[in-house]
Amino acid sequence: MTTPPTPAPLERRRAPGPGAVPGGRSTAAPARLIVVGSGITGLYAALLAADSGAEVVLLSKGRLRESNTWYAQGGISAVLDGPAPGDTVAAHIADTLRAGAGHCNEEAVRLMCTEGRRDIVGLQRFGVHFDAADGGPALGLEAAHSAPRILHAGGDATGAKVAAALIRSVLDRQSDGILTVRTFAHATSLLQHNGRVTGVEFLQDGNRATVHGDAVLLATGGAGQLFAQTTNPTVATADGLALAVRAGAAPTDLEFFQFHPTCLVSTPPSGRAAAPGLDQAPLLISEAVRGEGAVLVDGNGKRFMRAYHPDAELAPRDVVSRSIALHLAKLGDPNGHVYLDARVIESIKGPGFLARRFPTLTQRTLGAGIDWTRELVPVAPAAHYWMGGVATDLHGRTTVPGLYAAGEVACTGAQGANRLASNSLLEGLVFGRRAVEDFLAGSPTGPSAPDAWETDTVPEPFERSVTEPAPFSRDGLRQLMTAKAGVLRDGVLLSEAGETLDRWAAVVRPERVPAGGDVREHEDRNLLLAAQLLVAAAQERIESLGAHYRSDSPADAAGISDGFEETSRMRLKASLVHD
Ligand code: FAD
Ligand code: SIN
Repeated sequence: MTTPPTPAPLERRRAPGPGAVPGGRSTAAPARLIVVGSGITGLYAALLAADSGAEVVLLSKGRLRESNTWYAQGGISAVLDGPAPGDTVAAHIADTLRAGAGHCNEEAVRLMCTEGRRDIVGLQRFGVHFDAADGGPALGLEAAHSAPRILHAGGDATGAKVAAALIRSVLDRQSDGILTVRTFAHATSLLQHNGRVTGVEFLQDGNRATVHGDAVLLATGGAGQLFAQTTNPTVATADGLALAVRAGAAPTDLEFFQFHPTCLVSTPPSGRAAAPGLDQAPLLISEAVRGEGAVLVDGNGKRFMRAYHPDAELAPRDVVSRSIALHLAKLGDPNGHVYLDARVIESIKGPGFLARRFPTLTQRTLGAGIDWTRELVPVAPAAHYWMGGVATDLHGRTTVPGLYAAGEVACTGAQGANRLASNSLLEGLVFGRRAVEDFLAGSPTGPSAPDAWETDTVPEPFERSVTEPAPFSRDGLRQLMTAKAGVLRDGVLLSEAGETLDRWAAVVRPERVPAGGDVREHEDRNLLLAAQLLVAAAQERIESLGAHYRSDSPADAAGISDGFEETSRMRLKASLVHD
């Protein structure tokens, strides 16, 4: 196998660019930062670092646009200088803490909500334009927000618009020779010297290559591919978490995986076929649609959310997802789906509103054979966002010197046990920037003091004794995780999941990096390792909290009305392996 040389050093001592971080590193030779991932976190951090004079190498495992970020619809929450009447940063903080079910790191939330406006300006500097109304930014409302504060772009195409602008800026800097981009560069492990991360090994065109630097920022996003139904694209395979854990970094809060309540169930109604040639990626129906007034109904046409939570369809996301699951179980159809009724929006706001406000969703639902101005949209919960991840402090530092993590791969504690809508893009911006600031300040990138860390004990995934090997497949893993560690869990399901995962692990050995150059094999091991860690963490937390809902623990702890305890205590055979 050939090993391409480390990229040539970039031009040194440049004047700071427009996105420069104030007070950046002033050493004669710029330090080199390796950024892994090209979602909002990696792109924004790479731009800030490059404009501040650092050498930046940006690796991404596919094309630059392949990320969760690209698919983000609803937008970015932020309280700006001209907020909606009555809205304040304090209200945004309070909403985030409430949605997070009392499990947030309050300082992380405070930083995210107060500093976010700065990064919105930062995005605009890199060419991002948000939708406007009445001379100011148009502000959307989403579930569990007490005021409209969601900035969006292209109506429901926020992620694509933001990412496209950042990618343009990154490519401009590559043309100017101040940033190196490597696409289809799949990071497979972290290089270490004397306990410090000093680079990344990656696969490109089937070849193994390495890049060395002063620090690595993991911005590899999430892991929706752990589950059979997910809103996430195929790149979301828990790579960053697996790389970090193998390098000795502590993960935390892995039991908290958020399921978005309204992902289109692909079977079109009335047996109609989807239009040919359309993107078959999962279609999330943005919470912003419920923010505009859409409601959920069951197969009998009955609106059911009010019976589960006083805020009905605008209750926190974890509550809505598990209410759907519990309601379906109660109706005897645990693997079924419910319907989103968006017709009510047009009846209030007039014909054409849906197409104007949600152009992408209008086109994609039509492509799936559904005219949502006249028909109900079949929806069910799908794996969406991992609150847990690589533990970091408020500067993106992990427990391993030289290794930063930010965005969905990281866990600052800002999202608690259940993320508030549209706070993820915001977190990626704020903590991606804070990591770059720390790097530029020449920090040793290690924990300042051991007691500064409040992380879970790293679950030991390989301790159970294993007997017979069983065949592993990615599909099998995804089905298992959905059925036994999904929206509704209990001790029995989790222990069954753990045993199967361990049997697979005894054969697949996910704690090791595969020797070969097959990217899928690397992803499979990463998924298996992440699944083991998630299930171990879920077994350890015996009470329900936020998105971690155990039907063998009291229901009132999970934000659902007492009247449904009976349903919640039902032993659920399977959770939402919907058709
Ligand atoms: P990502 O955007 O996922 O980027 C990760 C990057 O890392 C990708 O480029 C990927 O290819 C790369 N990568 C992964 N592994 C490797 C590897 N081994 N080697 C090299 N590169 C690698 N959040 C909001 O705040 N508002 C919304 O409106 C919103 N809507 C959403 C809608 C959908 C359909 C989805 C799926 C998510 C949505 N979210 C939303 C969540 C949000 O989009 C993500 O949490 C956020 O974009 C994560 O950003 P990130 O930069 O951390 O990771
Ligand atoms: C959505 O638009 O519903 C997704 C928003 C989010 O994940 O924050």
